[in-house]
Amino acid sequence: MPSPSRIAIVTPGGDCPGLNAVIRAVTRVAIARGLEVVGVLDGFLGLIEDRTTALTDREVSGILTRGGTILGASNKADPRRFCTSRDAAGKPVFEDVTARCLATIERHRLDALIIAGGDGSLAAAMPLIDAGTNCIAIPKTIDNDIQGTDLSFGFLTAVATATEALDRVHTTAASHHRAIAVEVMGRNAGWIALHAGIASGCEVILLPEIPYSLDKVGAAIEARRRRGKRFSVLCIAEGARPAGGEQVVTKVDPSSPDPVRLGGISRIVAEEIEQRTGIESRYVVLGHVQRGGAPIPADRILATQFGQHAVELFLSGARDRMVALSGLTLADVPIREVAGRQRLVPADHSLIAAARAMSVSFGD
Ligand code: F6P
Repeated sequence: MPSPSRIAIVTPGGDCPGLNAVIRAVTRVAIARGLEVVGVLDGFLGLIEDRTTALTDREVSGILTRGGTILGASNKADPRRFCTSRDAAGKPVFEDVTARCLATIERHRLDALIIAGGDGSLAAAMPLIDAGTNCIAIPKTIDNDIQGTDLSFGFLTAVATATEALDRVHTTAASHHRAIAVEVMGRNAGWIALHAGIASGCEVILLPEIPYSLDKVGAAIEARRRRGKRFSVLCIAEGARPAGGEQVVTKVDPSSPDPVRLGGISRIVAEEIEQRTGIESRYVVLGHVQRGGAPIPADRILATQFGQHAVELFLSGARDRMVALSGLTLADVPIREVAGRQRLVPADHSLIAAARAMSVSFGD
């Protein structure tokens, strides 16, 4: 009797609501179809350091609604560029550790890796694919910026969380006649800010894709005041930047393959608004609140569908494909075509047009 096929699930990069729903769906469908399932711990770090765990129905029982990932995550473990030590001056030394990952894959006799990852994690997986590892990807990110799919799981939960925060800020801003700037995640892609800003009826939405002018933002708030509205709520993506200016960097971590951390744009905008308009202003940085907690039902469903489709793709003999959603239909695309490429908000997107028609200012 030939031994059953073995697949491994890995959750590299930042965590995201719905990861456990994916792990559960992949494990249950795979076991029902006679496969063996292995979980790789802490993202690609588990491949580099050979840390895995067997997954059965028991391990995935009760996790559908839980946030985070039971396998652990890491966004510092890129096999192409992994910090292995520090030199005499304390500077990180990076090495290509693809061979260590391939050895783990060989040792565990893995026939495929199911990677629930974003654009960066898929780019990091390319050397494994080039070396012959079959990878099936599931698009994961709250930012919804992966090419080749209309939706990644986690995004709708992040939008719901950000919208709830904006709604709460609205009532206090209105009571105190203040302008409050709320900073949401989105380094290069402003999908969360665009969706949550519209959902909460924000007056100003600032996106990384549309450089803003503080004069225009101030003018929008003044115009609103002239219409009798004495408060404003601004929804700002962390990666928003002024025309001709830079994004606000809060920290650079040289040991990370993705060293730049953004944050702080809401404070700058709030201070400038107060100075220009005389309206008392405050700011809120939502940060990782958007990544944590239980997925909303839509993400549980999407993650379950994605997980099931990934296993079916593997069983059909597919190689190196990413599960995708095209409109309302499940689809798949070659990983090679989407790895490392971000899907930004196009300037002519219908939601931007709708918001502009509702007098929302993008600061341009
Ligand atoms: O890519 C997802 C994301 O949530 C970004 O929106 C954000 O800038 C980044 O991850 C934060 O990552 P970290 O967990 O390293 O702070």
